[in-house]
Amino acid sequence: MELYLDTAEVTEVREVAEWGVLDGVTTNPTLVAKSGRPFETVIREICEIVRGPVSAEVTATDVEGMIREGRHLAGLNEHVVVKLPTTVEGLKACKALSAEGIKVNMTLIFSANQALLAAKAGAAYVSPFLGRIDDISWEGMEVVREIAEIFALHDLPTKVLAASIRHPRHVTEAALAGADVATMPYKVFKQLLVHPLTDIGLKRFLDDWEKAKQQA
Ligand code: E4P
Repeated sequence: MELYLDTAEVTEVREVAEWGVLDGVTTNPTLVAKSGRPFETVIREICEIVRGPVSAEVTATDVEGMIREGRHLAGLNEHVVVKLPTTVEGLKACKALSAEGIKVNMTLIFSANQALLAAKAGAAYVSPFLGRIDDISWEGMEVVREIAEIFALHDLPTKVLAASIRHPRHVTEAALAGADVATMPYKVFKQLLVHPLTDIGLKRFLDDWEKAKQQA
């Protein structure tokens, strides 16, 4: 399973990339706006660090605009994956860009049928937003599971990218549900590693080692 950071903060990408376990990055207009930095500079810098798939989202909502922006974004770096909203216009743009060999991540997916349409339009990735589904008292992980099962049953090559992840348990469950990728905020990525028993265990090993050295 691939693990991505969901961020537009270059310092976060640099830090986690150094761990050697970061496969890619997703961004969205909200995250880029929050970074306060120019969109294209951020995308270029992230691509240079991660050297894996980096999703950059269009802001046009009409098909011509999406295709124009998508081609431009794809030209920024070979690692750019163009993110498109799952609308009728988005599907048309996905079909056109995918036919040109540009990788597309269809975003804002909240149902298995939306994912099925995106896959048929040639998307390389579909992004079910599981946290936002949970927010409306539905079962986000169930949508991820359904999509993964449908793609496996019908041999669809589109990858399931579990998005809108809110806590480490979401990552475990997305992996079990068959997601190919989980994208998460920096805070959650760091939480994946933390376990109090690891810290307690390490402290005990080192304390015992010191005691043994003093007795020798
Ligand atoms: C994914 O590509 C999105 O950027 C992201 O996961 C949205 O997460 P949120 O619902 O926490 O904003």
